[in-house]
Amino acid sequence: MELTYRPRRLRRSPALRAMVREHSLCANDFIYPLFVHEGSDVEEIASMPGIKRWTLDTLMGEVNRAWGLGIRCIVLFPKVDEGLKSEDGAECFNEKGLIPRAIRMIKSDLPEMTVMTDVALDPYSSDGHDGIVSSDGVVLNDETIEQLCKQAVVQAQAGADLIGPSDMMDGRVGALREALDDEGYEHVGIISYSAKYASAYYGPFRDALDSAPRMDGGKPIPKDKSTYQMDPGNAREAITEAQLDEQEGADILMVKPGLAYLDIIYRLRQDSELPIAAYNVSGEFAMVKSAAERGWIDEKSVVLETLLCFKRAGADLILTYHACDAAAWLGGETP
Ligand code: PBG
Repeated sequence: MELTYRPRRLRRSPALRAMVREHSLCANDFIYPLFVHEGSDVEEIASMPGIKRWTLDTLMGEVNRAWGLGIRCIVLFPKVDEGLKSEDGAECFNEKGLIPRAIRMIKSDLPEMTVMTDVALDPYSSDGHDGIVSSDGVVLNDETIEQLCKQAVVQAQAGADLIGPSDMMDGRVGALREALDDEGYEHVGIISYSAKYASAYYGPFRDALDSAPRMDGGKPIPKDKSTYQMDPGNAREAITEAQLDEQEGADILMVKPGLAYLDIIYRLRQDSELPIAAYNVSGEFAMVKSAAERGWIDEKSVVLETLLCFKRAGADLILTYHACDAAAWLGGETP
């Protein structure tokens, strides 16, 4: 055949493929999530093989391991003791709470590590919601934001570098920016869960924190988060959410979940010049792990391909439970 264009010419060797590859992965792209609890034993999380609930004594070992693999940002999630949960989630702004203590420890032992936090009430809420639930079953927006501002200021005080509001209340980014600035934390950034969908992919995470909505109390508790998290059928609305967050002062925009929402990552990338993060959530992790355990897929190849595809879709950063494994596989080099 007389062909002018033969795209296969540039696929002939690993060297040629590497030269023309448009996107690559490195450990700096990853944000590594860590679960922490008050207990004295490191616990396994059944639906998230290889991910643990660390104790305050063992957390630093894992943070140092991540650093050694090239990871430069971690995010902390607490499993809060039942007795500390309440309807208004007030434990979230206890200066001596689990998260402020964990942040202080990391920032004193390894100050160069970027520490991100999650801002929402669900780990602290006896109703299992990201906000305060009224007696007639409504998740209250403005009252919740008051709690979130106090939570963020306490996290910043403890040394957090990036505050991550995952609650999806309206106007929270602006309110958090103002609260942080008022207290002298204008250097603390906001990585906003801008397009966070009401997704069934969060199941294993809610097991890890025991944070699912609870319907056993005396009041009518909404059974899911669909009055504040986004409807999976919507794409344009994600742009609206992201634009609001940007106007309100977000430094980084996040899309969550990641895999079924690559189009949303792409759209935000077209619409904003801010860094974009993808959250490769617990259910996505569990699916890969369970298939790999059965030998049905090759874990390393599937993970590296998946993470690379987040970059191709337009993400600069990837929050992923695979972070340490992937960083180790990359061995400091891009694939
Ligand atoms: C809570 C929060 C959730 C996740 C991160 N922060 C769960 C939820 O919204 O119910 C999920 C993360 C994951 O599934 O990995 N604000």
